[in-house]
Amino acid sequence: MLISFEGIDGCGKSTQIELLKKWFEKKGVEYSVFREPGGTDISERIRALLLHETDEMDPVTELLLFSAARSQLIREKVIPLLKLNRIVILDRFFDSTTAYQGYGRGSADLKSIQNLNRLATHQVKPDLTFYLKISPEEAENRISAVDKDRIENAGSAFFKKVADGYDILAQNETRFHTLDAAIPVDEIHKQIRQIIETRLQS
Ligand code: TYD
Repeated sequence: MLISFEGIDGCGKSTQIELLKKWFEKKGVEYSVFREPGGTDISERIRALLLHETDEMDPVTELLLFSAARSQLIREKVIPLLKLNRIVILDRFFDSTTAYQGYGRGSADLKSIQNLNRLATHQVKPDLTFYLKISPEEAENRISAVDKDRIENAGSAFFKKVADGYDILAQNETRFHTLDAAIPVDEIHKQIRQIIETRLQS
């Protein structure tokens, strides 16, 4: 089973992934977690370029680099693990590209981004996607200004467009579960557990 976590920067994905890992450990369930961009040597090197490069990056270059990092991770790690029936958790997946590069940056038209996503994922799709929904204003308050990376520095108009993009995806994709990221952390975790348990039983 493949589970992805999505949302704008500051939505609390990492906290929820940590809680989920602890729950799986308590239950004795084997799992693997990867972050995007990243998760393999090649993908981590691409991540450094994407997040910490100070030269101006062309939006199409950015789009292709996120996709390149993804292709490597899916082929090298995710597909082999899914074949072993392992639970794989992804801290971001191709929906991030649709929301950030598609709706946020407008790096390419949505059809081209969909095609590129299909290529870079090797047609792998999540069974469940948890979308932690938060307003761009609240998310901004949660991110410390000094730690911002290249993408996080893109400004509030950009994040508003990314958030709108996620909302559109959530309305159109049944695998999406939209969770209110402003409620207490434990409450969100409980909802995630319930959705996964229902899914595992079916
Ligand atoms: P993330 O790992 O969530 O950030 P952090 O290390 O701060 O927790 O994501 C890295 C950044 O990359 C984030 O700003 C979202 C962005 N991103 C895209 O723009 N497109 C993508 O396809 C992906 C996977 C991430």
